[in-house]
Amino acid sequence: MKIDRQTSGDPAFDTLLGGGLEARTITQLYGEPASGKSTICLVAAIATLRAGHPVVYIDTEGFSIERFRQIAGEDTEKLADRLFLFEPLDFEHQAIVIAEAEKVLKTQKPRLLVMDSATALYRTDLEKGRDALQSLTKQMIHLLGYAKRYEIPVIITNQVYMDTTRNTWYGLGGYALEHISKVIVRLEKAESPGLRRARLVKHRSRPEGAMIEYEIIESGIRSRT
Ligand SMILES: Nc1ncnc2c1ncn2[C@@H]1O[C@H](COP(=O)(O)OP(=O)(O)OP(=O)(O)O)[C@@H](O)[C@H]1O
Ligand SMILES: [Mg+2]
Repeated sequence: MKIDRQTSGDPAFDTLLGGGLEARTITQLYGEPASGKSTICLVAAIATLRAGHPVVYIDTEGFSIERFRQIAGEDTEKLADRLFLFEPLDFEHQAIVIAEAEKVLKTQKPRLLVMDSATALYRTDLEKGRDALQSLTKQMIHLLGYAKRYEIPVIITNQVYMDTTRNTWYGLGGYALEHISKVIVRLEKAESPGLRRARLVKHRSRPEGAMIEYEIIESGIRSRT
């Protein structure tokens, strides 16, 4: 049987996910600003690069070379060589970039695709209403197609909005993103300063609510459990 899991770069996070990132699947990380979404994406990308595999990285928020360097350390230049970075400028361009990424998937055989964030540019297009939501859904179906065809894990991150009546953060993109992500992890700031929590919201073979605590550090994340 084919091995269909690979490390996220952090052992506790792997355990939370039931043994690592699952191939042929979209894993969604959502959470408030500074909860650690981009950090975890970088940690996973760098772990995949260290294992010798290329990575497709779609960054809508301005890729931080400085942060990549902090996490990758001495190997930065070597690892960055196999990082295929795409930086869409707006939501329409995001769809084009997703389509263009297939060339890399075909020729370079990456073992991970990251999209950080799936919804930041969508958010700025929200006034277009249903059209934007349909386009987001199409983009996510496109990514899921890649996950399945190329047998790789896809990580997407999702911005949140605060529902003030319930005092709760909700992920953007609603059902479009909820259904298509087979694993959903919510990242949140804990009570004590610097501490974060990753909580399993959806998983096919693990109990909902499972949780780890972690800190964001120079070299990535450090889990407490
Ligand atoms: N070198 C570092 N050492 C410790 N903490 C760091 C370091 N670099 C960044 N951080 C912390 O990481 C947090 C930001 O994490 P990250 O960028 O992963 O959040 P995010 O969930 O992607 O946020 P956003 O929604 O704004 O994109 C901030 O609290 C920042 O202080
Ligand atoms: Mg981020």
